[in-house]
Amino acid sequence: MLGNFAYHNPTKLIFGKDALASLAAELAPYSTIQLVYGSGSIRRFGIYNQVVEALRAAGKTIVEDSGVMPNPTIEKLREGAQIARDNDVDFILAVGGGSCVDYAKAVAVSKDLTAGEDPWDVYFDRFEEPAADREVVPVGSVLTMMGTGSEMNRGSVITNRELGRKIGHVFTDERVSPRFAVLNPEFTYTVPRYQMVAGIFDIMNHITEQYFSNTDDNTSDYLAEGLMRSLVTASRTAVANPTDYEARSNIMWTATWALNTLVGCGKTQDWEVHMIGQAVGAVTDATHGMTLSAVALPYYRLIMPYGLEKFVRFATNVWGIDTAGKTNEELAAAGLNAMENWMREIGCVMSIRELGADESSLDAIADATLTMTGGYRTLTRAEVLDVLRKSLAAK
Ligand code: NZQ
Ligand code: ZN
Repeated sequence: MLGNFAYHNPTKLIFGKDALASLAAELAPYSTIQLVYGSGSIRRFGIYNQVVEALRAAGKTIVEDSGVMPNPTIEKLREGAQIARDNDVDFILAVGGGSCVDYAKAVAVSKDLTAGEDPWDVYFDRFEEPAADREVVPVGSVLTMMGTGSEMNRGSVITNRELGRKIGHVFTDERVSPRFAVLNPEFTYTVPRYQMVAGIFDIMNHITEQYFSNTDDNTSDYLAEGLMRSLVTASRTAVANPTDYEARSNIMWTATWALNTLVGCGKTQDWEVHMIGQAVGAVTDATHGMTLSAVALPYYRLIMPYGLEKFVRFATNVWGIDTAGKTNEELAAAGLNAMENWMREIGCVMSIRELGADESSLDAIADATLTMTGGYRTLTRAEVLDVLRKSLAAK
């Protein structure tokens, strides 16, 4: 039975090859735009020029804020909040992937902090919401890399290397929801294969984090299964042909729905793969999606006996495993084996060793791992270490 829920998502999605043409209209109420982007891919591939031309033609003042790194850091966030204050921006436009969008949201809630308040303490340590009488700068995005779903949710993940922590805050304050997202699948054609595959596994894992909980029959899980089947099909095509518009557009669309909270409606949720993956990311600074792929299988194989029924359903409804002559345990294992084959086929990283971790990293990763209670099992520290050791040993 679905639990009680409220679903409201105010982000406007503008999808397709001409989506950028809507940018000026979406920005009509605003005048001073903080233009957030990364290390230069948008300049190399012409997206920067298209955005800046649209902003200039609409008479906007552009405040540049570049150099947002993958896994954006608290130091960069402090700098961005200062840029927002110094220029009194009234809109933040992220042009890039999830790192830029997450960062833009964090800057948006930090502009109005006072001198004595540090965004890390307030939002990523104490998980506070922005005070009602504080300004939250509106945010929008032009997405160039699919995966995180940040374009249509209120999550923001910031890394504190000094403390060895990477923390996500899912804000409840609706002002943090992006006002709009410009989604042109062609903008993702130039994403390097490693990043594309990382994004694809990130999407799959966002869905499984919400799917592997509860055992009842509910519509949210059928939605999740449809999204996973689309993702598996489209990913195979996109890996073979990165400029296949149909595959790229399906992946982009699936990414947004995978984490705009829809498929989690009425359910408890797990998120333990993300907790372990974020801890791996805090220690190694590795690419987010690959930190997930490296730990997901040992984690799911560990919890499978506790949620056997759902793993059987996953095997049959997502991977089409033939049930004839198989025990539930065999079916469930076959589903995870099918996921493993797909992961290897598209090029996921299967071991944290490949991300720079070794035996000496395990305690720090386990220390940085939060354990969640919404899935089939709340892990002990020994079980977290077991997952990490199995990942280290994976070939
Ligand atoms: O810096 P630039 O030059 O932009 O290069 C980026 C970056 O190196 C490159 N890239 C992006 N678009 C491109 C491109 N290269 C060529 N052509 C393009 N069109 O890709 C690299 C990775 O970008 P990044 O934004 O870091 O990737 P992603 O979208 O995977 O975002 C990862 C961040 O999002 C967080 C992760 O933890 C990580 O910090 N997440 C946010 C979530 C949320 N808000 O709900 C949930 C996720 O689970 C995730 O934790
Ligand atoms: Zn993720």
